Amino acid sequence: MRTFVGVKVLTPNHIMQGNFTYYNPTKLYFGEESLNKLKGELANFGQTVLLNYGSGSVKRNGIYDQVMAILREGGKTVIENPGVMSNPTLEKLNEGIRIAREHKVDWILSLGGGSVCDYSKGVAASAYFEGDYWQSFWVEGNQPPKGQRILPIGCILTMAGTGSEMNGGSVITDAANSNKLGHVFDSRLMPKFAILNPRFTMTVPVEQMKAGIYDIMNHIMEQYFSDFDDNTSDYLSEGLMSSLIVASRAAVKNPQDYEARSNIMWTATWALNTLIKCGKTEDWMVHMIGHSLGAWTHAPHGYTLASVSMAYYRRAMEKGLTKFVRFAENVWDIQPEGKSDREIAQAGLEALKNWMREIGLPLTITEIGATPDMIDHIVSTTVIFPGGYLDLTPEDIKAILKDSLA
Ligand code: NZQ
Ligand code: ZN
Repeated sequence: MRTFVGVKVLTPNHIMQGNFTYYNPTKLYFGEESLNKLKGELANFGQTVLLNYGSGSVKRNGIYDQVMAILREGGKTVIENPGVMSNPTLEKLNEGIRIAREHKVDWILSLGGGSVCDYSKGVAASAYFEGDYWQSFWVEGNQPPKGQRILPIGCILTMAGTGSEMNGGSVITDAANSNKLGHVFDSRLMPKFAILNPRFTMTVPVEQMKAGIYDIMNHIMEQYFSDFDDNTSDYLSEGLMSSLIVASRAAVKNPQDYEARSNIMWTATWALNTLIKCGKTEDWMVHMIGHSLGAWTHAPHGYTLASVSMAYYRRAMEKGLTKFVRFAENVWDIQPEGKSDREIAQAGLEALKNWMREIGLPLTITEIGATPDMIDHIVSTTVIFPGGYLDLTPEDIKAILKDSLA
């Protein structure tokens, strides 16, 4: 290894892999005054807007009233669709599609966290799709056909975590079959604009804030822990992780710390807005296991990821040692002197675990309500992707889940 401007580079002989196209059409408005920008955006969209929101938080904290006032002032016809639940279901998606068709809505405004934004993309893509949208998009992973009408979306984000505000991801749960599936739509489904006011996240319950923090961390790790080349994307990831660690500590100590909440929100967007995956093969298996765990336990998304992470990354470390050494040194400031590579990497994972414990995240699946009798079901609904350091089989996933029980 060699040192380059203070940062450890892996192996100088590898060249950055992968060809990529980077395109992200979402316009972001960030900061305490950002909701004011909604007024100007209204002119870009049609008369009838479908306003999707969740289970009531936006009414309790007054954001709903502020948004409605702007929409009314702008003369829009608002069709409301409340009750979009956390981990939105296929049943609710069907309802939203029905409403969108019935009222011939011109566009969709998502008001809430990642769940409402993901859901809005599902409605936007499916309202004019001819056929079985669940099967085509979420099960088979297809994109809407060329030329199909897609409803434009705007997003007012109230919780930081998923990055849904600036990506094409949409995760929907077929609750009847305990099947939670994510689909990444192409750029047509990325929000046309997103309004991010960190002040809006201040009322998020602390437990949800922590779940969001780990979701952000894990998004970065899913992209970082792949390949062994020297890639600018990984340097960006290290910077984002470092910022998140500092901000998360401050926010857990004082959830009303505006600077910390602001940095968490901004980091969340960059963690999954398609930038840091450039040139990378990516992993995503913690997410795949997490989605399946979420379908069976209904735990917050970030908690499902935290609960299997240690068992997963201990295994991944054996195959991706040099990258885990880099993670330990550049993200956790582990001093290498007198240690073998394995010891450095292990110390990095120990630091990750200590941070997770410090901010109060679950470290076992038992803590989120999973029981041994669920394990076979969870394994059977876990989608397996190639790409990270591990080439997992269902048996490996079973072993990871068993290791995560205590
Ligand atoms: O329903 P409401 O009343 O809005 O309450 C929500 C919900 O109970 C509450 N909340 C949100 N903003 C609030 C607030 N409460 C008080 N004040 C506020 N300002 O927080 C709870 C959680 O909200 P939710 O939107 O479910 O959380 P999150 O943003 O973590 O979204 C989770 C969903 O996103 C998917 C997850 O699988 C899960 O279904 N993901 C989407 C991704 C993407 N689009 O790329 C990637 C992620 O990996 C993830 O899979
Ligand atoms: Zn996630």
